[in-house]
Amino acid sequence: MKNIVVLVSGGGTNLQALIDSQKNGEITGGKITCVISSKPDAYALERARKNDIKTLVLERKLYKSVADYSRAVLDALNEEKADIVVYAGFMTILDDSVCSAYENKMVNVHPALIPSFCGKGYYGLHVHEEVLRRGVKVTGATVHFVTSECDGGPIILQKAVEVRNDDTPEILQKRVMEQAEWKILPMAVSLLCEDRIQVTDNVAHIID
Ligand code: GAR
Repeated sequence: MKNIVVLVSGGGTNLQALIDSQKNGEITGGKITCVISSKPDAYALERARKNDIKTLVLERKLYKSVADYSRAVLDALNEEKADIVVYAGFMTILDDSVCSAYENKMVNVHPALIPSFCGKGYYGLHVHEEVLRRGVKVTGATVHFVTSECDGGPIILQKAVEVRNDDTPEILQKRVMEQAEWKILPMAVSLLCEDRIQVTDNVAHIID
């Protein structure tokens, strides 16, 4: 059974999707053993506590550099004996010390179809604001491995979602979460727990 550690910063609806999938028996081969938040008031912490999952707060603003913060997160992941790490709305950058320690073992959910609307500055609601500004008709979500390049790691799963004429960023965000993120994140974590993802030349392949 693999230890899954989930990193969060906010509301934690993606964490909730993982918890629900685990309860429904959809994640075999792994168990969420700890939730680490970069913010002390993240509602995601409450969701973890309600489900008897251990929580830790490593407040980003108490660390003076990305390197210091990355060291603290890496120490915590080692302490928790994490096999798999999931960024579920984790809004903080970690340096290569963490990315290489968890190469092809650490995944992120991004609220757009990478390589569109991704990279520095594209996070949370901003992504959906840009999607509407550009007028694309299809958006979606991506689960990818985390590397030191922001949103640049191998893509594991993607799901498309339609953009409607009367969308606001908030309405679109909700649709992308419901129709894409909450489905493909648990699916990708389950595949990872079952060792069914192989990466060759920066491309992830799912093994049947
Ligand atoms: C989600 O839409 C997630 O994809 C996004 O933030 C939201 C967090 O919601 N993450 C990023 O933008 C990372 N680049 P949640 O806390 O309710 O899961």
